[in-house]
Amino acid sequence: MCGIVGYIGRNDAKEILLKGLEKLEYRGYDSAGIAVQNNEGIHVFKEKGRIADLRSVVDDNVLGNTGIGHTRWATHGVPSKVNAHPHQSTTERLTLVHNGVIENYSILKREYLEGVQLKSETDTEVIVQLLEKFVNEGNSVEDAFRQTLTLLKGSYAIALLDKENDETIFVAKNKSPLLVGLGEEFNVVASDAMAMLQVTDQFVELMDKEMVIVTKEKVTIKTLEGTVVERDPYTAELDASDIEKGTYPHYMLKEIDEQPAVMRKIVQSYRNDDGSLSVDEDIIGAMNEADRIYIIAAGTSYHAGLVGKQFIEKMAKIPVEVHVASEFSYNMPILSEKPLFIFISQSGETADSRAVLVQIKEFGYKALTVTNVPGSTLSREADYTLLLHAGPEIAVASTKAYTAQLAVLAILASVTAASKGIEIDFDLTQELGIVANAMDVLCDAKEEFEEIARNFLSTTRNCFFIGRALDYYVGLEGSLKLKEISYIQAEGFAGGELKHGTIALIEEGTPIIAISTQEHVNLSIRGNVKEVVARGANPCIISMKGLNEEEDSFVLPEVHELLTPLVSVVPLQLISYYAALHRDCDVDKPRNLAKSVTVE
Ligand code: F6R
Repeated sequence: MCGIVGYIGRNDAKEILLKGLEKLEYRGYDSAGIAVQNNEGIHVFKEKGRIADLRSVVDDNVLGNTGIGHTRWATHGVPSKVNAHPHQSTTERLTLVHNGVIENYSILKREYLEGVQLKSETDTEVIVQLLEKFVNEGNSVEDAFRQTLTLLKGSYAIALLDKENDETIFVAKNKSPLLVGLGEEFNVVASDAMAMLQVTDQFVELMDKEMVIVTKEKVTIKTLEGTVVERDPYTAELDASDIEKGTYPHYMLKEIDEQPAVMRKIVQSYRNDDGSLSVDEDIIGAMNEADRIYIIAAGTSYHAGLVGKQFIEKMAKIPVEVHVASEFSYNMPILSEKPLFIFISQSGETADSRAVLVQIKEFGYKALTVTNVPGSTLSREADYTLLLHAGPEIAVASTKAYTAQLAVLAILASVTAASKGIEIDFDLTQELGIVANAMDVLCDAKEEFEEIARNFLSTTRNCFFIGRALDYYVGLEGSLKLKEISYIQAEGFAGGELKHGTIALIEEGTPIIAISTQEHVNLSIRGNVKEVVARGANPCIISMKGLNEEEDSFVLPEVHELLTPLVSVVPLQLISYYAALHRDCDVDKPRNLAKSVTVE
């Protein structure tokens, strides 16, 4: 949430910052701003809306070799030009951008900033005013920064400019992601390496409660106690083309289409030379030691966890509980004696999941993170990581990460089963190959899904997804996809549950999308469809080959019954995509959302 960039060096910073912000727009897009510094001072440009709107107010004549930038997802204060970052101190000596939430900002304001007139409604402005107060008391900017940081409670990634020193960007982080990138005669700062791949692929990770002095020649990392920390850079293994849309109109469509290739890449990445699937033996050891697994995740990743539970229980025979991260600490179950926690997170940065990770680490429990982003916070802080190998997912609506999560969880379950001597009656490598081929067929059937979206969803105000067993979980994911990008009120239900109340909402023409891929519940779900049709619903049945009937709207290519969620979700992704297009919605950047939810 919120994206930060900074540049100090030999070129004009402005275009590098703007390009960087464009790459970070997935993190928040309600307002944006940059500050460009030269020997005349600091020039701030900000605007409500997207980076394109910001570009229109940036003065082309202002040049500078130093600058910082921000794209915002509002937490404190409405999206507006005034609340957009950068924020400046009263004398405009200090200018900063911030990602995160300062939980004690009103206490700090009351205790330290009496009489200071704040311009915005943000928690961020309190930071910059505190800094100025400490500088006015005779401290250097570095000392004032340190002093300020020790007072902040909550999460922050900060980049700070001082009008009287155009050779330094001051940087700090706690719980919010931030990297420093290295170049020749320049250095950069970014929330995500993607933003600065345009100038470097060498990055240094920052740890919580570190501050960094960035000049064009040097990067000095210090703890808040002042101890200098040495840390080697790593090479960001991202291909610039991975983060471009290419010929696609939207990232979401590109990412849906990438799913067959991601399946093949995952199989390749987890395959031994002898062709068998393999997972790091420490992870398998931890799975085998666990008497119960607790999956913690949010949103789409939570839906992947629900399916993952079935994989692990059915293949590896270990009991699994799945919990929504943001609720876990209030409703913590009685934990088993030897729990293993699995955090599923595309971004590896979700604050709700991280809060649970911190808590369970305090209890001394082991954690495995399943993520798409190597080096992400959840990956670094867990004991083990399994990577999704899905390539960057940029559209806010998660698609390829969901199916990648399912594939990796299936591999984890099957390798654990094998290590326990449990025989599985199918060859997962081969079945994932069949899944990839089925996904190819579905991606080639876009016109049919566009038609379904037009017929069922172009004018409706609501829609229900029903399924039983594994199909129920896919329905939950389908409904999330539809609502987040098309704004149609959509709900997923267990087929048998609708008649316990929600059926009251069925009216003439209400679309019901029913999924039927499981033989043992096929007749029951079809019975549920009949119940709603009798009350006027407009049914769209998506069934698996072999279970199909004449009235079905689409028949999925056959895959192994346990792996159907990997395939049945693809039509739901595409139907949601086309429903959003038909309704003129901004598919890649739906309203009120952001890709990486780094606030609790
Ligand atoms: C929906 C979506 C979100 C995320 C959720 C968790 O399309 O993307 O529901 O799944 O915010 O994010 P991660 O997986 O990054 O922890």
